[in-house]
Amino acid sequence: MSTTRFLTGITPSGTPHLGNYVGAIRPAVLSSQRADVQSFYFLADYHALIKCSDPARVQRSTLEIAATWLAAGLDPEKVVLYRQSDVPEIPELCWLLTCVTGKGLLNRAHAYKASVDKNVAAGNDVDADVTAGLFMYPVLMAADILMFQANKVPVGRDQVQHLEMARDIASSYNHLYGELLVLPEVVIDDNVATLPGLDGRKMSKSYNNTIPLFTPREQLRKLINGITTDSRAPDEPKEVEGSALFQLYQAFATPEESDALRQQYAQGIAWGDAKQLVFERLDLEIAPMRARYESLMADPAQIEEVLLAGGARARALATPYMRQLREAVGLRSLAKVEAPQSAKAHKSALPQFKQYREADGKFYFKLLSASGQLLLQSTGFDAPKEAGQSIAKLQQQGTAAMADLASRLAPVEGVGSEDVAQALDQLLAAANA
Ligand code: TRP
Repeated sequence: MSTTRFLTGITPSGTPHLGNYVGAIRPAVLSSQRADVQSFYFLADYHALIKCSDPARVQRSTLEIAATWLAAGLDPEKVVLYRQSDVPEIPELCWLLTCVTGKGLLNRAHAYKASVDKNVAAGNDVDADVTAGLFMYPVLMAADILMFQANKVPVGRDQVQHLEMARDIASSYNHLYGELLVLPEVVIDDNVATLPGLDGRKMSKSYNNTIPLFTPREQLRKLINGITTDSRAPDEPKEVEGSALFQLYQAFATPEESDALRQQYAQGIAWGDAKQLVFERLDLEIAPMRARYESLMADPAQIEEVLLAGGARARALATPYMRQLREAVGLRSLAKVEAPQSAKAHKSALPQFKQYREADGKFYFKLLSASGQLLLQSTGFDAPKEAGQSIAKLQQQGTAAMADLASRLAPVEGVGSEDVAQALDQLLAAANA
């Protein structure tokens, strides 16, 4: 069975919420368990520095996200789980890629353009408060992906352009230095639900309507009780369409369980009772993970160890591959230097026609091998044009022209017809290359 390599990065900024779990973590953990898939997951802490200059927060978030993925069931023996900053080959590759990336390509990146547009609207300098890190974001992301020859990259819709750029950048490198980089494909899972938040809009940090995944049980109950519902009284029939509470339930329950709640809605279940039911169902799935999360968070040194081991596995692949990528661009040992391949040296490696005039006033041509051996010798032509036309015929038709020109070619001592044919073929091939 051939395995496909999946790779995805998680930027450690903020605390994971239910939306992250349902939309990204749960499906990723499931796919990592497939036998035909080899998964790479990493904490994109270099990327975190682009948005966050609070060192304690970067560290805290890295710990929380690593603990979350482990608690959710990611098996660090089966997948390669590592921290981006533990693989120095990534920033090294990032520089090689930077040198083949058009600045114009990066000018068109959505995130950068959004910052520019905002500045323009505010009447500021176009690049006010834009770091070179933000500008370079897509190149670093390309390095993350290309470093591990990933085939598939599962991401959110907002990352599709970054994947296109990674492909463009890889193609530029391959064009210049040979087909060493693998072009990755984006994977968008349209089946995963986007969860509504407390206010019914999409659950998102930017709306401040999130439910943290591993909030303590009583806190989870409180937050679910706070979900916006309509003003229908107990016993009044209720609709599941547009009910954030119902959607939340659906993301955790079996289809049968969802049908049962749908019926209870129709029968007029009180909102308070519905919330209690939803809370208990969510907690059923979350509680065992929460317990694992809490024990992991109580022992950060254990997580550090898991990440370092994953980093070592990642580097076992990255180090030899990076050596190849460096070699290809000319970052090489000086102990074995190739002689320069000048255009002239290259030309003289081919057989050559020579045209000349003899003392008898006639015009001649001859064919010399690359090493200067005489292969063909013409008889004398009255006009230089005739000699030139014969050469052209041999150049264009190769050995096929030999029969026609037989009467104009003088025999050459010790040269077989294969030698001549080989030289003419070589010239034809070079002309068509
Ligand atoms: N940019 C991604 C995000 O914000 C995170 C990321 C960094 C990533 N490097 C990656 C995702 C490489 C996939 C592959 O979601």
